[in-house]
Amino acid sequence: MDKFVITGGNRLEGEIHTSGSKNSSLPALAAALLTDEPVTLTRVPKVRDIRTMERLLVDIGSELEVTGERVTVHTPVVVSPEAPYELVKTMRASSLVLGPLVARCGRARVSLPGGCGIGARPINLHLMALENLGAKINQEHGYIEAVAPDGLTGAEIHFDRITVTGTEDVLMAATLARGETVLNNAAREPEVTDLAAMLTRMGAKIEGAGTSTIRVQGVKKLHGIPEDDPHEIIPDRIEAGTFLIAAAITGGDVRVTGLNPEHVSALTDKMKQAGVTVDQPDATTLHVRGNGHLHAVDMTTEEYPGFATDLQAQYMALMTQADGIALIVETIFENRFMHAQELLRMGANIRLEGRQAIVAGRSRLQGAGVIASDLRASASLVLAALVAKGETVIDRVYHIDRGYEKIEMKLSHVGAKIQRVE
Ligand code: EPU
Repeated sequence: MDKFVITGGNRLEGEIHTSGSKNSSLPALAAALLTDEPVTLTRVPKVRDIRTMERLLVDIGSELEVTGERVTVHTPVVVSPEAPYELVKTMRASSLVLGPLVARCGRARVSLPGGCGIGARPINLHLMALENLGAKINQEHGYIEAVAPDGLTGAEIHFDRITVTGTEDVLMAATLARGETVLNNAAREPEVTDLAAMLTRMGAKIEGAGTSTIRVQGVKKLHGIPEDDPHEIIPDRIEAGTFLIAAAITGGDVRVTGLNPEHVSALTDKMKQAGVTVDQPDATTLHVRGNGHLHAVDMTTEEYPGFATDLQAQYMALMTQADGIALIVETIFENRFMHAQELLRMGANIRLEGRQAIVAGRSRLQGAGVIASDLRASASLVLAALVAKGETVIDRVYHIDRGYEKIEMKLSHVGAKIQRVE
């Protein structure tokens, strides 16, 4: 198992480029199942979750051509409309194939995800919505089977709580349903808007993506997206946000390029309040300069456009280096403070009370042996290690490889002392 060995203390300087979004690419790859024509995407990041989704598509019957960041998916026939436990247990987002498969072939069988490091993560809202569209749902031997032999029919759907992949799953299904579907209390995340843009290019009729009410007029057939004019995936706002924090925590001077500043504004607002200088030299670049003096700023995670739960762990690392007390409240997942225990081992002063973390700074962090417990927790440990005195060894970095493309190379390039060892 790979580890990262990081020696803290270097100020980051230079330029880091943002990769395409993992959480946009996953539904985009699943959406390619909605048509028997080839669909080409670009700016697909080379991360482990994408490889898992590609393996799933091949099992289902897709032919895949991957050249760098460009992926063409062609599924002339669905051979097996199924997502097996072995894949779903390593990546919950595998349930994104449920909507497209039931819409295209009237049947899908997907393993139930089960528990996860950051919370329960059920898919009951995906199932409720598909039932509203006319699918019959059965659970057997840990699998969910959705059947709609005569196709799906549009309906009015209300999500009791906002779900990102739930909105995406049902949006994909609704594109091929008969008549109109209205999704109320839909997720407004940029990844949902990106998926809607891609589906529209395939011939879907969608209005309101990016707002909490999405209307879909079902069509009979969707078509492909040509190789010479592919759909470009949006920048990864969580990766970009992690780099912005890396610059700030080391008191560095870094330009993060190829991002969408609007997608990270909840984070950059907090960073500015904390005393970091953030400028926007052009439409896709943010320039961060830290002066080594940070003040504590409270933060509560929320659905987009609020502060992303996927940046909470990284923000906690930043707050260990701020003067004062920061209250961090996690409202999206019930168990997303695993990184706090590891940060404590590095010398942070954090008290957990249910969904709240009280971070008192500034702490003099020290290198230690720590364990990455999930993707974003691992990123938080990398950030803490960049400012810790001495050497930090992070075990189980396969978690970070799920969602960050070559993070050690990108960080080394701006001056971090980080090495991958086997
Ligand atoms: N929920 C339900 N029932 C459902 C679905 C969700 O109760 O049927 C609850 C969840 O338990 C959670 C809340 O609703 O408490 C929000 O979950 P959501 O469904 O929005 O999360 P997700 O779609 O499974 C995506 C991202 C996550 C990100 C969350 C929240 C992808 C592939 N994953 O997950 O990303 O944290 O939205 O923004 O898009 C990550 O990249 O590290 C990651 C975990």
